[in-house]
Amino acid sequence: MKIKIKRYNQELIEKNSIDEFEVSNTNLLKALIQIKQYNDSTLTFRCGCKSGVCGSCAVKVNGLEKLACRTKINQNDLIEPLSNINIIKDLVIDVSHETFLLDKVKSYIDINSNKEINQEDIEKIDLQSNCILCNSCYSSCPIYSINKDFIGPFALTRALRYVDDKKLKDKKEILNNIQTNGIWDCTLCGTCSLVCPQSIDPKADILKLQNISFQEGFSNPNLNNFDMNFDYEFDGFNPNGF
Ligand code: SF4
Ligand code: SF4
Ligand code: FES
Repeated sequence: MKIKIKRYNQELIEKNSIDEFEVSNTNLLKALIQIKQYNDSTLTFRCGCKSGVCGSCAVKVNGLEKLACRTKINQNDLIEPLSNINIIKDLVIDVSHETFLLDKVKSYIDINSNKEINQEDIEKIDLQSNCILCNSCYSSCPIYSINKDFIGPFALTRALRYVDDKKLKDKKEILNNIQTNGIWDCTLCGTCSLVCPQSIDPKADILKLQNISFQEGFSNPNLNNFDMNFDYEFDGFNPNGF
């Protein structure tokens, strides 16, 4: 079977190319390892656990974000690096900016509350805790593609994970950190949720963070810029049509 791989090497004059390789394995990660071993040792990709839990092998297959170790490939599939993130070489991306965005939110427990935790409390944050930081959601996000200051899907999902954590004594700081370039900039398009290999729903998490923010006294800053002074030159509705 033939697959196509988008190559990138900033040291070469011809930086971008699409190379074709013959592979015998239908698991994408195994096919990449086969190419590196037998066809082209310069092919660069990242992997760790090889079992869908470390998030390091995310790439795009025919335009859709996938974990290479969990993906079956077909004839002529096009393999590319994730979008919206700087490429280091071939399929390897530089995630330092996304890590910075995660740090910026300060989603962690600084001071513990003394509240007792039960099974229900654990289940409330279980799904969001399963994020493997694969960056697929950032790759798919239309807002992140045009604004690199947007805090973005997985950092906001992480914010909800801690805002919903009973052990966190004061959620106000995290909520404060996500008001600018955060929850109000998301269009709630849901693309991030569609591509998440962990079935996390960052769109729903962001919507929930908007509701919690309202309850905590924050407001949508975009509404302040919205002109409410409509001037329709309209004298009212005439039920008789004259
Ligand atoms: S939310 Fe999903 S898609 Fe985004 S980084 Fe976490 S696991 Fe990957
Ligand atoms: S729902 Fe929001 S965070 Fe998710 S892809 Fe759309 S704009 Fe980006
Ligand atoms: S190698 Fe760890 S998720 Fe694919």
